[in-house]
Amino acid sequence: MSFFSNRLRTDLSRNPLTCLLEERRGSGLDTLDLTESNPTHVDLPYPHREIADALARSCPPFYEPHPRGLRCAREAISTWLGHRGLSPNPDQLLITSGTSEAYSFLFKLLLNPGESLLVPRPSYPLLDFIAALDGVRLRSYRLVHDRRWRVDLDSLEEALEDRTRAVVVIHPNNPTGSCLSDEEAAGLLNFCARNSLAVISDEVFLEYPLTETASRVSSLEGTQETLVFCLDGLSKSAGMPQVKLSWIRASGPATLCEEALQRLDLISDTFLSVGTPVQAALPRLLEIGAGVRAALQDRLASNLQWLRHQMRSVPSCSLLEPEAGWNAVLRLPAVRSDEAWALELLRKGVYVQPGYFYDFTEEAVLVVSLLPPEELFRKGLSQVLAHAGE
Ligand SMILES: Cc1ncc(COP(=O)(O)O)c(C=O)c1O
Repeated sequence: MSFFSNRLRTDLSRNPLTCLLEERRGSGLDTLDLTESNPTHVDLPYPHREIADALARSCPPFYEPHPRGLRCAREAISTWLGHRGLSPNPDQLLITSGTSEAYSFLFKLLLNPGESLLVPRPSYPLLDFIAALDGVRLRSYRLVHDRRWRVDLDSLEEALEDRTRAVVVIHPNNPTGSCLSDEEAAGLLNFCARNSLAVISDEVFLEYPLTETASRVSSLEGTQETLVFCLDGLSKSAGMPQVKLSWIRASGPATLCEEALQRLDLISDTFLSVGTPVQAALPRLLEIGAGVRAALQDRLASNLQWLRHQMRSVPSCSLLEPEAGWNAVLRLPAVRSDEAWALELLRKGVYVQPGYFYDFTEEAVLVVSLLPPEELFRKGLSQVLAHAGE
């Protein structure tokens, strides 16, 4: 008999890579960290002072919460989205304390316990935990790589069951960096409309295109075929994970969309988790975020360009070209598993993520962040490629 619910795995032990990393840190050994994706930790000129000033100056004297978030904050988001050619009605926006919370609200809105939603594979591992905490199940559809990543629409049909209620699209996906083409988006929306499924479109990396093709579909918003909830936030779009503010943009058939928003109001009102100062400061934070984003874009472009160039001289390895986002996926010789590669590289002082963290089925795939400072990135990856090319 346990004190605890079984929402979470009972096995709390750490994986071998994390154990080895802690061991190295404990022994004072230096490690080149190629997994860093926290924009406040990558040696960029960072506007700490401006952010602090914006928060200090914006705090209204009274607490007057609104379940969708302060109107001034929602108006600021709507205006900001103008640069993508969007102008959502502020009433169709709902502010949350992060994208993870937005997912959780939407799972509560759309799914009964035990029902399922379809999620891309490979992808970001956090969804497993959010789904487990909300008592819902994930079923995977495949992203396949042949020259570029694409959604395997047949695998969506295969994953569908009677109890499926929604499809998650991550556009651009993390860590593959793949964007939906117009054709894929149309196929996916058609599948959802035919099967009465809502769409949750995670667009947190849309501001970070890495190739020309990355902007083929700007957003999944605007279809009248089904309910679509687009997610975005300051964490990625403004490089400010620490301020904790994201938003849901609801769209779809008018009556259904209005009912969804009213139900979301109830969910949000139960928690009212977003602080007033950060909401009131949002117009200024979005302005400051433009500078952070530009610095991040430069860093990503510089590291990716260097990586592409280096890869040419290591024919045994390949880069699975990202179209957008903060990560790159490398395919190494399949002489050992991804975990064995990551452990071996860590013993040599370079920390990378094995593909299985993101549910890659293919062996010998590693994920590296494109955000670390250039010098560290080059040093670490030179070691990875030298070792993989041996
Ligand atoms: C695809 C994707 N969505 C959402 C998030 C979480 O965003 P937030 O910090 O706003 O919760 C992440 C974090 O890495 C992510 O990779």
